[in-house]
Parts: sequence; C-alpha cells; structure tokens
Amino acid sequence: MGDTAKIAARSKKLFIKTYGCQMNVYDSGRMADVLAPLGFSSTDRPDDADMVILNTCHIREKASEKVFSDLGRLRVLKTGRVTAGRDMIIAVAGCVAQAEGAEIMARAPFVDIVLGPQTYHRLPEMVARAARSRDEAGMPQSRRGVLDTEFPAEPKFDHLPAPKADGPTAFLSVQEGCDKFCTFCVVPYTRGSEYSRPAADILREARGLVAGGAREITLLGQNVNAYHGAGPEAAVSWNLGRLIRELAEIDGLARIRYTTSHPRDMDDDLIAAHRDVPQLMPFLHLPVQSGSDKILAAMNRGHGRDDYRRIVYKLKEVRPDMALSSDFITGYPGETDRDFDDTLELVNEIGFVQSFSFKYSPRPGTPAAILKPQVADEVKAARLHILQQVLDAQLRHFNTSCVGRTFDVLLTGRGRNPGQLVGRSPYLQAVHVLADPAYVGAIVSLTVVSVEAYSLGAVWADSRASRPRTQAAHA
Ligand code: 5AD
Ligand code: SF4
Repeated sequence: MGDTAKIAARSKKLFIKTYGCQMNVYDSGRMADVLAPLGFSSTDRPDDADMVILNTCHIREKASEKVFSDLGRLRVLKTGRVTAGRDMIIAVAGCVAQAEGAEIMARAPFVDIVLGPQTYHRLPEMVARAARSRDEAGMPQSRRGVLDTEFPAEPKFDHLPAPKADGPTAFLSVQEGCDKFCTFCVVPYTRGSEYSRPAADILREARGLVAGGAREITLLGQNVNAYHGAGPEAAVSWNLGRLIRELAEIDGLARIRYTTSHPRDMDDDLIAAHRDVPQLMPFLHLPVQSGSDKILAAMNRGHGRDDYRRIVYKLKEVRPDMALSSDFITGYPGETDRDFDDTLELVNEIGFVQSFSFKYSPRPGTPAAILKPQVADEVKAARLHILQQVLDAQLRHFNTSCVGRTFDVLLTGRGRNPGQLVGRSPYLQAVHVLADPAYVGAIVSLTVVSVEAYSLGAVWADSRASRPRTQAAHA
C-alpha cells in the first residue's frame, strides 16, 4: 500500500448531531477537536461516517424522545455497514446520556459509548476501549458498551486542546453547571454544580480565537453571569463584568456577547460594563420564564417581576439602544389564567425583540414534575399559542422598525442568493447584502431596506458595494 492509501485507510469520518443549546454546539466542536488526532474528520452525512455522536438535550421531553427515534435510524445504518464488513461507532453524549445512560445502554445495546457532558475529554480513551471490546468479542455488534457519566474532579477544560476559530464568530465556554435549582429544570442534575473557568485560561482561548480570525465571541454558560472564575492574581476572583472588560482589551475582538443570564446575577458591575464597553453588544437574552410573582416563587427563581423590570430599566438607562430577549414557560403547575395574564402584561410592558417559549414539560427527578395539579395540555398549548402570537408580533414590529436604520453588520458567510453575503446585526438579526466574498469577516455599515420572515435585506450605507477586493480591509 502506498503512503496516500495508508493515510486514506487511517482517516475516518465523524458525524455529530447536536441538539439543544449553544453549550452543546460548543461541546460538539470540542469533541471533534479531541477526536481529530485519532484521524477523524467531520462529515455531514451519517451514512458516510465511521463514528456518529448524538450530542443530546434533556431540557424538555420532546428533545429527549428525539434521541431514541434517531437511534432507531442509526441502528439500521449500522447493521447495513456491519453486514458490508465495515464498522460504525455510535456514541450518545450530552444531557440525555447523563440522565439516562443506563437506560440507553439497555434500550439500545448497539450504542458503543455513552458519555456525559463532563467527560468528553476522555473520548479517545473510550473509543479505544470500545474498539478493544470489539476485538475481544470478534464482532462489532457484540461488543460491550462504554459508559462514562461521572462528574470527574479534574475539570475537562484542563485536558482539551485549544479550540481553533471557525469563521468570524466563535463560542467560548466560561462557566458551566447551575446551583439555582429552578423547580422545572434538569440542568443542575445533568450539568452538575456551577463551575467557572480560570480567567487566564479564558483570555488565552479568546486570544487564540481572535488570532484565528474570530471577530465576535459569545461567552457561554448555563448561568453565565454567575461567573466567578479565579483571576490571574490567585486569591481574587473575577465576575463577568471584569472578565468582559479584560476581553475588550484584546486587539481585533470587535464584539462580545454572553448567554444565558439569570436575572438574579445581573449585578451593577455587569450593567456598568454595558455602559463602558462598546464591544459589548446591546442585546441580551435574559429569561424571565413567567410574569407572575406567584409562579416565579413556585419556580424557585429567586426574583419577582419587579426585579426583572428594574434590571431592564437599569440596562436601558446605560444603553438606550438595548434590546431584550427571553424564555417563557406556559402551564407551570398551578398557573391560572390570572398568572398567565401577568405574563402577557409583562411582555407587553418590556417588549422583547426575539423570544423562546415552551409548554411546561414535566422532567423526571425535578420537584415540579410531581406537583399536583398539573395544568392540562390543551390549556398549556392554548396559552403558548396566545403568547407566541404576541411575541411574534413584537419580533416583527422590531424588525420593521429597523428599516431605514444603519447598523454595523459583521459579515459571516455566503447568503442564500448568488452574490449575497449574510451577516449579523448587533441584535443578532440575519442581514443579507450584495457583497464580494472578500468581505467575510469585515464589519460594515449597512442600511436596512427590507424585512423577510426571519431576516433583513440591506444595502451598503456608503455605496461601496463594488469596492475592489484588495481594499476589503476589516472595518
Ligand atoms: N419545561 C419547559 N421548558 C423548560 N425550560 C427548561 N426546563 C423546562 C421544562 N421542564 C426552558 C426554560 C429555559 C429554557 C432553556 O428551556 O425556559 O430558560
Ligand atoms: Fe435551569 Fe434555572 Fe439553572 Fe437556568 S437557572 S439552568 S432554568 S435551574
């Protein structure tokens, strides 16, 4: 066999399907990074893959159920490949794996690896163990599965290679886990208790991402504004406001965002960072869940509707162009029509520009799941429908109000139509414009001229669309 053939024989294809939140998107990238030295490169076709990872989400019942239906399809794919004399490693990662690892092994014995969100730095070892057990068993279909859903004492971040930038926008995980224990939520059980990465590690990772071409970094955490990582001067810890101020010193980092925040941790220093740091985008995802004080207390949120209002007004005071988005749950146990009206009232008062809303989904092991009485599904659905109509109208109103306005837009890649690029406004709206591909990565001034369902159309504010490629310097 010649060298090229040997390399081809060694190179393997990895398909990762990511469900759920941005933290999972980040984790999927890191799993690909740790597997790269084993010869795995990414593919977007599962039927072409030597290894498939389902990086799962357990937040609502629908999300977990999808995993088992996807596994059914993968079983057929794997059987076909094994019959053809080729192997396929199937791994289930993420929060369903953490919560239901043993059940997955029992219900889907063709799964080779089950791993929780805190152990993916050990994936190479797990792949080797799965392969060893296959060699011992003689046949891929009779190997023993590897289950690793520990919460190891050593943080996984210390064992991961430095991530590489993949385009002008990047995620950077700064905090993980949650100690808030909202009564409806599985996160404290699946992601474990709150952990903040040391500030020096985050700064190093951010510098690396910027050196690789990232111009916008979104700091991630389940409770990102509870960040309290060790500062470089040992004993002193940094809060998120301090971290953002230091990140803003990195040359070339033009935009900073953070998500997801909890109202309880929106401290004055972080609000002041919105005043002082121009790189911090004037858009914040700040879930309120409900507008009823009674329901907020039952959810163990630790804040009322007035606290939420106060935070929003403080933010708008320091950044009048600030826009808010939120998450909502309808039909939490005990929610009455009056409680729901309180939610609608708060939504109407605040005016959200983009939101996510869900029917309450009882999650096994969480306190709210066993509360009685639960709200009937039809009622949850009817309230969700009403709420979504209001939220949709607010989104459309905001988008329409952008027509005629000029924004800085970070161009991120090719758009839908030939000759178009797509980018992000400060408010995370997708903006399309006719532009030369050399502008990808540039922040340019665009005037919005049209609104589509979920995006905006724009023209160059200063009619430089035909500027030659050589002058496409970063703004
Ligand atoms: N049912 C419905 N929605 C939920 N969320 C979290 N847990 C549940 C649940 N059990 C929603 C919350 C949270 C978002 C990520 O998912 O609104 O902010
Ligand atoms: Fe879940 Fe509440 Fe923690 Fe958010 S703050 S992750 S909703 S428990």
